[in-house]
Amino acid sequence: MIQAKNLNKYYDKLQVLKGVDLHIKKGEIVSIVGASGAGKTTLLQILGTLDQSQKQNDSSLLINGEDILKMNDKNISKFRNLNLGFIFQFHQLLPEFTALENVCIPAFIANKNKKETEIEAEKLLEYLGLSHRLHHKPNELSGGEQQRVAVARALINKPAIIFADEPSGNLDTASAENLHQLFFKLRDEFGQTFVIVTHNEDLANMADRKLVMVDGLISN
Ligand SMILES: Nc1ncnc2c1ncn2[C@@H]1O[C@H](COP(=O)(O)OP(=O)(O)OP(=O)(O)O)[C@@H](O)[C@H]1O
Ligand SMILES: [Mg+2]
Repeated sequence: MIQAKNLNKYYDKLQVLKGVDLHIKKGEIVSIVGASGAGKTTLLQILGTLDQSQKQNDSSLLINGEDILKMNDKNISKFRNLNLGFIFQFHQLLPEFTALENVCIPAFIANKNKKETEIEAEKLLEYLGLSHRLHHKPNELSGGEQQRVAVARALINKPAIIFADEPSGNLDTASAENLHQLFFKLRDEFGQTFVIVTHNEDLANMADRKLVMVDGLISN
């Protein structure tokens, strides 16, 4: 599902990724752990096509069969919208829109049918235990509820891969555990692939595979 070879990233003279190789299979849940500053977010952003690695002849990034490093920006955006979902520590919901509207937005960007999208978004929110909060805005929801809305938004286009960066960093223990269970339930039901950067040891250890990043490289 994801095949990366020799990914490098510099910020000025600071080399943050030092030739990362990675292979993640379809339906796998992989956690990435490591010290602050090791390069985890940088790697996730590059795998998620939100950022670009330095172009080098033997670098490659294949996602869902597509050769990302050979695509132009427009096609990358389209590919991202259709194939990838993102969950961040701070959910980044749009404050002026309701839960339901926030979930619909990625589907509207993909030009999907309005009515069908709304039905699908309602189903997802119901699945996540939020059917009673469809028309509330983010500031009227608890942190855990907002995070579940963000999860529904990440899922609306049925992405092949979900990238999560500290998804439960902002949640209490019970909400975090529920969210973690949910990832596994989604994988079992829909076969999605998850790449999760986390400092949460329980979550990291639940994953099928735990990758440890040390100083710009995956050490195991
Ligand atoms: N836009 C940027 N410009 C310059 N340096 C950056 C930039 N983004 C990140 N860095 C540096 O790159 C290194 C890796 O950062 P990154 O965010 O990937 O770490 P991380 O492993 O996610 O850490 P944390 O666990 O604290 O989130 C750090 O030294 C950071 O200061
Ligand atoms: Mg980070």
